[in-house]
Amino acid sequence: MRAVVYDRYGPPEVLRLQDIERPAPTQDEVLVKIHATTVNRLDCATREANRRSGLAISFVSRLVSGVRRPRQRVLGTEFAGEVERVGAAVSEFAVGDRVFGNSGLRFGAHAEFITMPVSARIAHMPAGLSFEDAAPATDGALNALTCLKQADLRMGRRILIYGASGAIGTAGVQLARSFGADVTAVCNTKNLELVRSLGADRVIDYTQEDFTKNGQTYDVIFDAVGKQSFRRCRGSLEPRGIFLPTDGFANLLWALLTPRMGGKKVLFQIPPRQTKQDVLFLKELIAAGKYRPVIDRRYPLDDVVEATRYVETEQKTGNVVLTVSRA
Ligand SMILES: NC(=O)c1ccc[n+]([C@@H]2O[C@H](COP(=O)([O-])OP(=O)(O)OC[C@H]3O[C@@H](n4cnc5c(N)ncnc54)[C@H](OP(=O)(O)O)[C@@H]3O)[C@@H](O)[C@H]2O)c1
Repeated sequence: MRAVVYDRYGPPEVLRLQDIERPAPTQDEVLVKIHATTVNRLDCATREANRRSGLAISFVSRLVSGVRRPRQRVLGTEFAGEVERVGAAVSEFAVGDRVFGNSGLRFGAHAEFITMPVSARIAHMPAGLSFEDAAPATDGALNALTCLKQADLRMGRRILIYGASGAIGTAGVQLARSFGADVTAVCNTKNLELVRSLGADRVIDYTQEDFTKNGQTYDVIFDAVGKQSFRRCRGSLEPRGIFLPTDGFANLLWALLTPRMGGKKVLFQIPPRQTKQDVLFLKELIAAGKYRPVIDRRYPLDDVVEATRYVETEQKTGNVVLTVSRA
């Protein structure tokens, strides 16, 4: 099968297309013929062994992915496609079923086929969704869900979502809204209308206004793009307010300390616990019209290097899709 492989950590140019052996499902797995996948920030960070996050994080990244070179040569976590074969013990899926999901740190989705254990993050696609629309449904949304679940969001709780235009942010706005929260979203001028259309009650243009200086306070501040800090946001939190980060070594330390101290706290789940139930939950939200992944650009699999360069500008709006094969 055709796949995008890499044999050493480095810039987007280490990625190349190659014919490799098609995986075979074990008895508890399905083989999925992938129609669409994505390039996301986890792919990019893993491909460069998290070099941009500093030596300590890079070292941990290599322990997970392979110390000298990557153990898994094929990146890609999100996928949508059709079941091609099922293992002997599989009853949940049948050949031809349209499925979507996320392989997480097992990766392997930048290819024509992937095997997935049925107990992992895979589900039938919601009706009416194309493969290209379903592929980006799980990365940003699962990351947002992992964070938001910790904050007991419900009717009337006030949340500020910083970086509301990224993969995590666009999903976060929709999820927070579906939980009944009052959502203030912060993004760049060009994305104000989009973010409003996703359900934000209020939008703040970060090029015009610093939300930490306008006197408003929130029950929860969700930094969906890893550009804020607890220290900076503390004054904008209610007395028992919660700061939810997506990135940053310092936030790990705050997350160890602050929950023991009472008052304002940082909640950061490492490693994130994301389950098949979460994917089924997202499927229900999509079916109910409460969540839809935002797509910025689409590229054919052959243009994976170009797609990756774009994702690394850190300026995409929502998600970048790779089309693997036509339905
Ligand atoms: N996606 C994952 O799998 C994953 C997993 C774990 C952690 N993370 C971390 O989570 C964070 C977000 O991930 P993501 O996938 O959602 O990112 P993303 O989609 O690449 O985020 C891009 C968006 O962030 C906005 N942005 C960039 N700089 C900003 C700033 N200074 N202030 C406000 N907005 C800014 C950009 O809009 P403008 O530039 O136009 O404002 C753009 O719309 C990253 O730090 C990433 O390392 C991601």
